[in-house]
Amino acid sequence: MKLFLALVAFIVPLVRGQVPHWGPCPEPDVQAAFNLKQFMGRWYEIARLPTQFEKGRCIETNFTFRGDKSIRVVSSEILKGELRKIEGTGVIEDQKNPAKLGISFSYVLPFSPYWILSTDYVNTALVYSCTDILRLFHLDFAWILSRTRTLPQTSIDSAKETFANNNIDVIRMMDTKQQGCDKDAPWNDDQLL
Ligand SMILES: *[C@@H]1O[C@H](CO)[C@@H](O)[C@H](O)[C@H]1NC(C)=O
Repeated sequence: MKLFLALVAFIVPLVRGQVPHWGPCPEPDVQAAFNLKQFMGRWYEIARLPTQFEKGRCIETNFTFRGDKSIRVVSSEILKGELRKIEGTGVIEDQKNPAKLGISFSYVLPFSPYWILSTDYVNTALVYSCTDILRLFHLDFAWILSRTRTLPQTSIDSAKETFANNNIDVIRMMDTKQQGCDKDAPWNDDQLL
């Protein structure tokens, strides 16, 4: 058992490219009276906690309803000059808390939490995902999303403050590059250096 815990403690974060935080997930407030319909559409990623899976630039996600009312989630990024797209499915996991969505990008993966902590639907959205590992520690992800490719620094600062006020550590949050993303621009990472 001890060996198993040691393996989990060291391998899981390595695989996810993440530093674990001790203790269970924080329990942040989420957007009250969340209106899923207003949340639909295109969101640009302005900043995020580092993750292993998303490291391109021009990251955006488009939420639309499918015919059966499930949510189609299409994320795209430009990585090494190539446009990459990944499609997933979103669901409201808890009808009493409609801001607590779950998203899965594969049939074989369970839904990961995708909580809308706050949004005004037209400018910004703060999203948080956290998974407990044996209640000993947790791995989390946080994103600042925007309806436009850039946000004023004051909005970014106040978003980070909201995370921090909910006991979410965003010191390592990094900006997502949203320059040179236009379709007619050459998708060449070198050009940005
Ligand atoms: C979002 O997805 C919908 C449905 O596939 C599509 O019609 C729309 O053009 C997409 N919007 C963007 C900005 O990609």
